[in-house]
Formats: sequence, C-alpha cells, structure tokens
Amino acid sequence: MSDFEKFKDELKNKLIKAKDSKELDVIRSEIFSKNGLINSEFKKLGSLSPEEKKKVASKINTAKQELTTLLNEKVSNLQSNEIDERVKKEKNDVTLPEKDFKIGKIHPVSQVIDEISSIFSEIGFSVEEGPDVESEYYNFTALNTPENHPAKDMHDTFYIEENMKTLLRTHTSPVQVRTMLKGKPPFKIVAPGRTYRSDSDQTHTPMFHQLEGLHIDKNITMGHLKGCLNYFIKEFFELDQIKMRFRPSHFPFTEPSAEVDIGYRIENNKIIIGEGDKWLEILGCGMVHPNVLKNSKVDPNKYQGFAFGIGIDRLAMLKYGINDLRSFFECDYRWLNYYGFDPLDVPTNYRGLSK
Ligand code: DAH
Repeated sequence: MSDFEKFKDELKNKLIKAKDSKELDVIRSEIFSKNGLINSEFKKLGSLSPEEKKKVASKINTAKQELTTLLNEKVSNLQSNEIDERVKKEKNDVTLPEKDFKIGKIHPVSQVIDEISSIFSEIGFSVEEGPDVESEYYNFTALNTPENHPAKDMHDTFYIEENMKTLLRTHTSPVQVRTMLKGKPPFKIVAPGRTYRSDSDQTHTPMFHQLEGLHIDKNITMGHLKGCLNYFIKEFFELDQIKMRFRPSHFPFTEPSAEVDIGYRIENNKIIIGEGDKWLEILGCGMVHPNVLKNSKVDPNKYQGFAFGIGIDRLAMLKYGINDLRSFFECDYRWLNYYGFDPLDVPTNYRGLSK
C-alpha cells in the first residue's frame, strides 16, 4: 500500500471516530489545506510521465470524493447530535417567573378607550365592535348617505376595490346599523375602534380612533342626549363643572344634528378645560334619522333615539397634554414610556380613571 493510501485510510478512520466539530476542523485541514493530503499529492504529479499522471490524478480525485462525502455526512450527523444535546441541556421551564421583569406600558389611546367605555358602562351602555374593512353600504348608504352625496367627498375615503364597494371605514357609525340588525330594541351601546381617512398633518392621521354611541328606545329625546354627554365630559375630564355648547350642524344620519364644543382657556401654555371663553369641538351627535332606523329594521314610529361620534385621539391629546397626533403612531418606545400607563391600573369610575 502506498503512503498516500495509508494516510488516506488513517484520515478516514479519524473521520469516523471524530466526536465534535472541533476535531472535524482539524481533520478537514489535514485533508484539504494547502499542505494537506490532497494538495501535497497533486503537487507530486509534475514529475510523472503523462501516462502515470492520468492514473494517479484519477486516484487522487476518487480519494478526494470519498473523503468529501464522508466528511459531509459526519458534519451533518454531529450537528444534529449537538443540537439534540443542547436542547436536552437548555430545557426551559416557561412557568417560572421572568428574572429580569420589565412592565410594558398601555398606550394613551387604549387607556382613553378603557376610560370612556368604563364611564358609559356606568350608565348602562355595553360595548360593540364592527369591522375595519367595511362595505360601502354600511359606511354610507345604510346611514342615509346616498350615491353622489357630498358627505362622501368630505370623508376622503380609502377604497379597497376599484368598484368602490369595499373600503376602510371612515367612521364608527356603521356599527350602529350592524348592531341594530343583530338584535331587537332597545339598544344602548358604545363602539370604539379604528377609522381611516386620507389625511395627514399635526391633528390628522390616516388612521385614527372614534367611539360611536347609540341609544334607541321608546321616548328618547334630545334632553337625554344632552344629559348623557354632559355626564360623560365631566367624568372624562374628572371635573365637577364644565362648559359645553351644542352647535347646530349637519350629518346625513341624524336629524337634528349638532356638534358639541367644550369651553377652555390657555394658561402658561397649558390648556385648561372647563372654563374660559374659547371653544373646542370634540364630537358630533344628533337624533338618529328615521331612514337609518328603517335600514336597520327598527320601526321609527315606535322607537327613536340619539347617536354620537367622539374623536378618541383628540380627547387623549387634551386630557394628557400631548400636542402632536402623529407621535401616537410612531411606535417610539421612549414616548410610550413617558405617556403610557401602568397595565395593572385598569381605569374604573369608582377608583378614579387616570390616577
Ligand atoms: N360619523 C361622524 C363623523 O365621523 C360623527 C358622528 C356625528 C357620529 C353624528 C354620530 C352622529 O353618531 O350622530 O364625522
């Protein structure tokens, strides 16, 4: 047996016996490095006759192939063994408490949604939800907003399909109709959620949040609406007295319609809610239009009621002194750490909403 053959068999044996990837690295270099078995043998070819050169070269190539195959097999075997070993050793008990426990923060929008839902639940409203991807029918038509109505332009709608039948809801009002179609009157619900319009500046973002309110029963009047909103605003801003005014407005789905402003003043660059002679619009409302009730299979001769739509982000900005709406959605951890809330402090009316 030639020296080459002997050395080759020796390396094969070493490969078979290798126990870890470190050993394999050493053997790999003994075979394939510049001065390893294969290259040293190729270097000797120069001194051989052409006939012999052919024979020996083919022998070296066969050996090279054999060793490569064996090495690759060994690498993959050892790798899977090593993984098995690690998995055995690194078994984690997921039921153990976290060692380095960090509490996350609740986003001000989530906090305000919880606060508002809690305030309305105190006076008998339950919480409903509707889809973000909505049909043109629920978003406009069922809400008494006919084809080609100018209100559709006001909404800068994001349409999802070219036939303009599917869209991202421009307001939470379609949840009114969906809720009424699902059940029987009376209805007393709030519906918080995401809404979308093609708009972006310091006080507008393409995605924002609204909360819809709906109260339908026999003999519900505008007086109930005023009482309800007055209670809500006082509770929300945690004040005994507030200034509030109803300004006549127009929405296709309410008749009469109003916008509600609250009084405020500026002191040392800070906004003080509840007093002063400046007015800030915070919501739209009105008595639900008979056509909306009809579209929702509710008899307008027997039932009536009010609805309102509140801009949640704006209320969060006002209550917590945040002045750029866009910062809400930038996912900046430092911002959230500063403006966010403790997850264990769930807002409730009786314990205090934000303290
Ligand atoms: N959907 C209206 C908007 O986004 C807000 C609104 C106004 C909702 C009056 C209502 C309402 O329920 O009665 O501008």
